[in-house]
Amino acid sequence: MAPSGHAVLQMAAAAGTSGVGGRLGTMGRGQGSAVAALKGGNMKTYLMALGGAGLLLSVSAVAALAQTEKPTLPPDPPKFEAQGQVDYVGVKDIFEFKALPEYHEPDWVTKNFVDTGKLPPVKDRLPKEPLVYKKANMVDGIGVYGDTLRHVIGGRPEGWNYIGGQSQGWGGIDIGMSECLTRSGPLFEIKADELEPLPNLAKSWEWSADGKQLTMHLIEGAKWSDGVPFTSEDLMFYWNDNVNDPNVTPLNGATPATFGEGTTLEAKDDYTVVWTFKQPFAKQYLYQMAYGTFCPGPAHILKPQHPKYSKNTYEQYKNAFPPEYMNIPVMGAWVPVEYRPDDIVVLRRNPYYWKVDEAGNQLPYLNEMHYKLSTWADRDVQAVAGSGDFANLEQPESFVEALKRSASKDAPARLEFGPRLIGYSLYPNYSANGWGEPDERGQAVRDLNRNDHFRKAITEAVDRKRLGESLVKGPFTTIYPGGIYSGTVYYDKDSTAYYPYDLASAKAELELAGLKDTDGDGIVNFPAGTAGGKNVEVTLLVNADYQTDKSLADGIVAMMEPLGIRVILNTVEGKQRDALQQAGKFDWMIFRNTEELTSVVQKTVNLAPVGPQTSYYHRAGKDGQLDLLPFEQQLVDITNKFIATSDGAERKDLMKQFQKVYTDNVYGIGLTQYPGALIINKRFANVPKGTPINLFNWAEDSVIRERMFVPAEKQGNYELHAETLPGAPGSAGAVK
Ligand code: GLA
Ligand code: CA
Repeated sequence: MAPSGHAVLQMAAAAGTSGVGGRLGTMGRGQGSAVAALKGGNMKTYLMALGGAGLLLSVSAVAALAQTEKPTLPPDPPKFEAQGQVDYVGVKDIFEFKALPEYHEPDWVTKNFVDTGKLPPVKDRLPKEPLVYKKANMVDGIGVYGDTLRHVIGGRPEGWNYIGGQSQGWGGIDIGMSECLTRSGPLFEIKADELEPLPNLAKSWEWSADGKQLTMHLIEGAKWSDGVPFTSEDLMFYWNDNVNDPNVTPLNGATPATFGEGTTLEAKDDYTVVWTFKQPFAKQYLYQMAYGTFCPGPAHILKPQHPKYSKNTYEQYKNAFPPEYMNIPVMGAWVPVEYRPDDIVVLRRNPYYWKVDEAGNQLPYLNEMHYKLSTWADRDVQAVAGSGDFANLEQPESFVEALKRSASKDAPARLEFGPRLIGYSLYPNYSANGWGEPDERGQAVRDLNRNDHFRKAITEAVDRKRLGESLVKGPFTTIYPGGIYSGTVYYDKDSTAYYPYDLASAKAELELAGLKDTDGDGIVNFPAGTAGGKNVEVTLLVNADYQTDKSLADGIVAMMEPLGIRVILNTVEGKQRDALQQAGKFDWMIFRNTEELTSVVQKTVNLAPVGPQTSYYHRAGKDGQLDLLPFEQQLVDITNKFIATSDGAERKDLMKQFQKVYTDNVYGIGLTQYPGALIINKRFANVPKGTPINLFNWAEDSVIRERMFVPAEKQGNYELHAETLPGAPGSAGAVK
C-alpha cells in the first residue's frame, strides 16, 4: 500500500528543511583533521590526516601507506512509495486512427469562423482518419470546451525555430507546440509486453522482411495550424536540411547518428516515407522519432529562410522567427498568439488540430495555454497557491513547504509523488582532442578527467548522504553512484559499483593520478611541465535557473576543497549553460539526468558517445574524431548491441554489462536521486493516474494535455483572448 499523502507529509515535516548554505558552510572544514580521523577510528584516514596536518611524514610517504578502497554495492534507497497507482493498458485502449460519422467544435468557432466563411467546416479541417482518444481510457470521460491551463516557466523563448535550434523556454511549451513522428510520454501506462513508442504523426509502420526498411504512413490530410497541408515534404526538410546539415543543431540535438550511422530517409509520396537502416529491426530508433528528436517544423515557413534556399546565413536562419513573431504554424494543439517579454506567452487552440475524442469533438478541450515567464521555483509556489495550474515539483528545496500547503482539504492543487526519477550527476568533459578548444589548463584538466584514479578520487570525495540532506531531510534523496537509476527495470544492484565517501582513499587516488601539493597551500598542483605546475583549478558549469543545481554545485566546491581541488563555479542562466555545453566549453558540469537513465529505452543513443555529436559530455574534436577511452568504446558497443536487439533477456543482460562498465570506471559521477511530484490544480479532469514527472518524457507530454478539461461548473475566467483563434503566420496575434 502506498502511504497516504498525510503520512508523507508527516515524514517531511518531521524532517524539516535544512539551510543549504549553513550546512555546506560547516561541512568539509574539520573533516580532514586528525581529531576527526581518530574519532572515526580508521587507520587510513588517520594516516592521511597526519599528512594533511603537516607532521613528519611527507605527503607521498603517507600516500604510499594509505590504500585506495575497493567499490562496494550501493545501499538500498530509503522506502518511499509512489502515491498514484498506474492502470496499465494497451495502445489501442488509448486511441486509434479512424473516421467518425460526425465531428464537433466549440460553438463560437462555428458561429464566428465557419458560418462567416473564415474557416472551412471542422470535418474538412481534420485528416481523413483523425487520432481518436477512447473514452474508456479517459479518467473522467468525454470533456467540455473552455478554460486555460496556466503554466509558469523559468526559461525564456529564444524564438520559434525549434528545428533550427531555438528553445521556447521549456516547461512544456515546445512539447505542446511540436508533434513528433511517434510519442513516448504516455508510455508510462502501457503494459510491458506492448511497450513500443505510440503512433502519432506516423499513424502506422511496417518492417521489410529483412528488417532493414521501415515504411511509415503519415496521417493523411492533416494540416498545419494555418491550414497548409502537412506532408512528407515537412519531414524531408527536417531530415535533409536540419538533421543532416552540420551547420544546424535542432533544439534537442538530433544528428544523423541519433538514428544510426548510415541511416537514410526517403519520401515515397506525400504520406509515405521509408527509412533504411544498416541493422535489421532497429526498433529502438522509434523512440528517437518521438519528442524531441523527430518533430518536424513547417517547411512552407522555415525552408524559404534556410541558407540553402535563401541568402541568409545560418545564424539568420536560426533567428528568423523571434519571440515577437506570432502564429508560427504548428501541428500541436495550441499556437502562440501573444508574447510579452518577461511576462507571458499566450497560446490559443489550433483550429486544424488533428485529434478528436470518441464523440467526434475536435481537441483540445482547453482553449488557451499560458506560460508565465518567471522562475522554476515560482512554478511550484504558484501551483500550490492556485495562481498557476501545473508544476513538476522537482527541486527538493521546496518539497516540505509544498507538502505542507497541499495537505489541507481546501488546497487548490493535488500533489502526488512518483518514483525516484530525478537525479543529478557531475560529468567531466572527456574530449582531449579539442572539443570546446580548451586552453593549457583546460587541456590538463581534460587529461585528468580521462584518468581513472582522478575520477575515483572525485567520486570518493563526494559525501552523498550529506549532499542529499543539504537539499532536503527525510526519506526523499538517496545515494546515487551514477549510471542507470535504481527503481527502473534495467537496474541491477549487483552490477553497480559504488565508491563510498572516503577522503583518505580519495587522496590516495589523487596521488596515483600524479597530483601533489608541491607548494603546500592545500591545493594539489599539476605535475611540473603541465599547465605550469599550477594549482589544479577546475571550472564547473552550473544552471543558474535551478536552486538545486546551485545547491549541488556549492556542495561539490565544499567537498573538493579537503581533497585539494579548487572548483570554480561558472553559474549562468539556462540558455547560456546549454550553449556552453553544446560548444564543449566546460571542465565539469552538473547535469540533471535525462530519460536514457530513467527509462533506458528513451534517448538510448545518449547512453554513450555512439556518434560524433550525440553525447552530452564527449564529442568529436575539430577533426571530427572521437577520442574514446577503451571503456567508453565498450559502452558504445554495448549500447549499439542494445539498440540492435529486441530480445528482452539479452537487453537486460546488456544493461547489466553497461552498468558494470559505467560504474566501475566512474563514467558519470552520480550525486543524488529523489522522487518528484506532479502538482495540478484540482479543477482539471482527465489527468491519468500515477503520471510520473519524467519517465519516458516530461509530465507535460505524459498527461496528454489535449485531452484534459475543466468541468463547466469549475471553469475559471482566465482566457485572455476568449473566442479568438490564431491569425496568419507572423501577424499580430489572435483574431475574432
Ligand atoms: C524544464 C522543467 C521540467 C519540465 C521540462 C519540460 O526542464 O524543469 O520540469 O517542465 O522543462 O521540457
Ligand atoms: Ca598547491
